Amino acid sequence: MGLTDDLLRFDWTGVDAELQKKTEDAFAELRLTEEQIERVQRVFLEEMERGLDKQSESPSSLLMENTFLPELPNGHETGEYLALDLGGTNFRVMYLRIADGKVVEQDFQRFEVDEAHRYGSGEDLFDFLAGCVQSFLREKHPSGRHFELGFTFSFPMIQKSLDVGILQTWTKSFKASGCVGQDVVKMLNEALHRRGDINVDVVAIMNDTTGTLVQGASQDQHCAIGVILGTGSNAAYIERVDRVKKWDHHQNGIKEVVIDVEWGAFGDNGVLDFVRTDVDRAVDDLSLLVNSFTFEKYFSGKYLGEVFRQCMLKAHRDGVLFESVSEKLNTANSCTTKHVSMLEKDTIDGTGHHLEAVMEELQQAHSAADLVVLRYICALITVRAAVLVSACISVLLKRIDRDDCSIAVDGTLFKLHPRLASLMETAIAVLAPKHKFHLFLAEDGSGKGAALVAAVAKRLRNRK
Ligand code: GLC
Repeated sequence: MGLTDDLLRFDWTGVDAELQKKTEDAFAELRLTEEQIERVQRVFLEEMERGLDKQSESPSSLLMENTFLPELPNGHETGEYLALDLGGTNFRVMYLRIADGKVVEQDFQRFEVDEAHRYGSGEDLFDFLAGCVQSFLREKHPSGRHFELGFTFSFPMIQKSLDVGILQTWTKSFKASGCVGQDVVKMLNEALHRRGDINVDVVAIMNDTTGTLVQGASQDQHCAIGVILGTGSNAAYIERVDRVKKWDHHQNGIKEVVIDVEWGAFGDNGVLDFVRTDVDRAVDDLSLLVNSFTFEKYFSGKYLGEVFRQCMLKAHRDGVLFESVSEKLNTANSCTTKHVSMLEKDTIDGTGHHLEAVMEELQQAHSAADLVVLRYICALITVRAAVLVSACISVLLKRIDRDDCSIAVDGTLFKLHPRLASLMETAIAVLAPKHKFHLFLAEDGSGKGAALVAAVAKRLRNRK
């Protein structure tokens, strides 16, 4: 038995042996074998090294971006900051007060970024963001005082310093024009200053994984990895500067730096094709940005529902599920990650309670045997998600190679899925057997982390 089977342990009660076999055969490709898992680990490490290398001949699919963050909070940070969190369709403006390296007070407001702003011009998008900052301050902090702001920008960017971030490509649900190749800190600062009615300066930009790592480190001193399992997925970790070959700056004795892996794009150059299935190709074909973000599309929150829907359609075509498929189910993106989580809850507590609700939402007629097949599909795509993510985390653990290493995780997929965390714990322990680790939820890394990074940026500036 391999890791996948160990994690899966599926109870087929209610289905005859023939249907079980046909279903297992139909989805054999989604059950990662030991060799495939080992190859994912090997390829991930190779891609990491190529991404850090200055002279790589063929580009790595991992950006391995230098965040220019050489240290984590040391417990002495204090002050009041603003933070912005842009990554999903919700945008947050936050006020955070830090004392002794921890966030002790916070307040925030959420704004919806509608399609017109996500797909429109970059200038309009940043004017809209600046307007949200103004409306938050007008309501909560009308004094007109000056604020420094940490900007969590959860998209692939090339950083030139802690306060310069050049957008490489949009992902998830964004497509605003005139931003790719631009410094988004400059765009935001210009929009803030254009208004003339607020006194705010962006002092640091970071990815949400960096924020999560920093927030994690303020809770647990052994934290060296930050992971997001949400709409998208990615990780940041602490790397030795001497291994960051492409960073030819004068490094002033800096020994370590946080690297943003950008593993969402892992495999965009074909190196992961050995795990790609027809289901994954169908998910990609229907996505906003086709042929990119291969790894993320296997499991992250934005896509897992569609992976599930494509699996159901395949199961129907292969004659193991549903007599006919409802119009709703035939509609792209009609299933969400929430549906997968609901069915997984049934698997855990042995009921069919949520299944009925999901089928009703999808207006899908079904038999008792269908329900077992559906649960199997959800279990399988969940296990594949856990194995893929754990394979990458195990590589990071081995690379960091500390006696004890904590992994801070945030994101809706991680928080709302009923057993992803425990599957990952088991998988990581198998895949990095010699490395002691602790996986924990670092709630709101993209908010609290932004203020903490702004505070660290201030310390670094003062030191200069
Ligand atoms: C996408 C973004 C990445 C972010 C992740 C999680 O993969 O490219 O920067 O960290 O989503 O939000």
